[in-house]
Amino acid sequence: MALRTLITRKSPISTHLGFRGLQTFSLPDLPYDYGALEPAISGEIMQLHHQKHHQAYITNYNKALEQLDSAISKGDASTVVKLQSAIKFNGGGHVNHSIFWKNLAPVLEGGGEPPKASLGSAIDNHFGSLEALIQKMNAEGAALQGSGWVWLAVDKELKHLVVETTANQDPLVTKGPSLVPVIGIDVWEHAYYLQVFLSFSSYLNVSFLAQV
Ligand SMILES: [Fe+2]
Repeated sequence: MALRTLITRKSPISTHLGFRGLQTFSLPDLPYDYGALEPAISGEIMQLHHQKHHQAYITNYNKALEQLDSAISKGDASTVVKLQSAIKFNGGGHVNHSIFWKNLAPVLEGGGEPPKASLGSAIDNHFGSLEALIQKMNAEGAALQGSGWVWLAVDKELKHLVVETTANQDPLVTKGPSLVPVIGIDVWEHAYYLQVFLSFSSYLNVSFLAQV
């Protein structure tokens, strides 16, 4: 299965507003039904996570972008600087969740299969085994103070896999421009507060991973 683009079939991910062509964003559709990952992740938490939390990042990101556009047009340097944290947080939330949905897939669509081919070999060579990688990512996630993300990434310069964490909604690029996300695990309570994940790895979309 080819890497799905972040632009969905049913709805545009961005909209142009204003005479200067300001680009704002809209909630991408999930590539599966909300209940398709049960029993590992309930449809209820998937719907809340997507429609409430991801949507909130997009709404606030768009608001900040519109304020930024206005501040730039007025030459208001102070407001431009002030908006950077909101743009990083909410824009990062949108970027991270857009990756997260595509890291998961129903079992009938390839979710839950251990990585094969080059990704499977790279995991074995670098971490010892898939089980060792899962344990490492679980440990790094548990050690995160507050909320954040745990990432399996490819370092394009060093040409090997790495495990990284980011705080809050910082996207992986904040840890280095050569890092390309493979898997992003959401360690925010809003990802599981209605239900403990029984087996996150059971629904990893390996066909997605293999194309990254
Ligand atoms: Fe989340």
